[in-house]
Amino acid sequence: MQSHRIAVMASGKGSNLQVILQAMAEGRCPVEVGLVIADKPRAGALDIARQAGVPQVRFLDPKGHADRTAFDMACADLIERTNCQWIVLAGYMRILSSAFVQRFAGRIINIHPSLLPSFAGAHAVEDALAYGVKVSGCTVHLVDEVLDGGPILAQAVVPVHDDDTRDSLHARIQQQEHRLYPETLARIVEHGFSVEGRTVHWRT
Ligand code: GAR
Repeated sequence: MQSHRIAVMASGKGSNLQVILQAMAEGRCPVEVGLVIADKPRAGALDIARQAGVPQVRFLDPKGHADRTAFDMACADLIERTNCQWIVLAGYMRILSSAFVQRFAGRIINIHPSLLPSFAGAHAVEDALAYGVKVSGCTVHLVDEVLDGGPILAQAVVPVHDDDTRDSLHARIQQQEHRLYPETLARIVEHGFSVEGRTVHWRT
């Protein structure tokens, strides 16, 4: 049987990691966070992971590696050594190398703060506001070699208000992220899915 141990990779404050850990503790998400990797020494995700007692919590410094692939392979080795089956990106702001994506094909999941395929990239919330959309949201998707381009697992929609700022819209999107990410992870490990072309079919 496939293990439900996950590795979480993060760069920022770690609120998505926190809600996954909370859902785990409350029995709503039957996964075990075996490893948290951050590429920023001050990422809030590191403190959250330590406080929750995640067995392996590591800051890996991209500058200490020859290039992106070398850094990613160091992360990949750690993930394999800790027997993590799924890699969950939670505000991880580095583009993954092809070598990493191929090594864990179909087992890397990301959350993105827009309704993909609109507004891929690092400035999704600002880009959606600047475009003038009336709804936005978040997307949980599989990671492939196209930036924010893998098959979609789940999405949630929020309204965009006339007086929204980047922060107010992001806060509304994050409320949905915090519900959707743990729910989707639970669904992945409890039911599973198959992928046909770009379409994810959930098993019931
Ligand atoms: C989240 O809103 C997530 O969607 C976004 O970073 C934030 C991380 O928040 N991810 C991306 O923009 C990836 N391209 P968190 O650190 O509080 O979980």
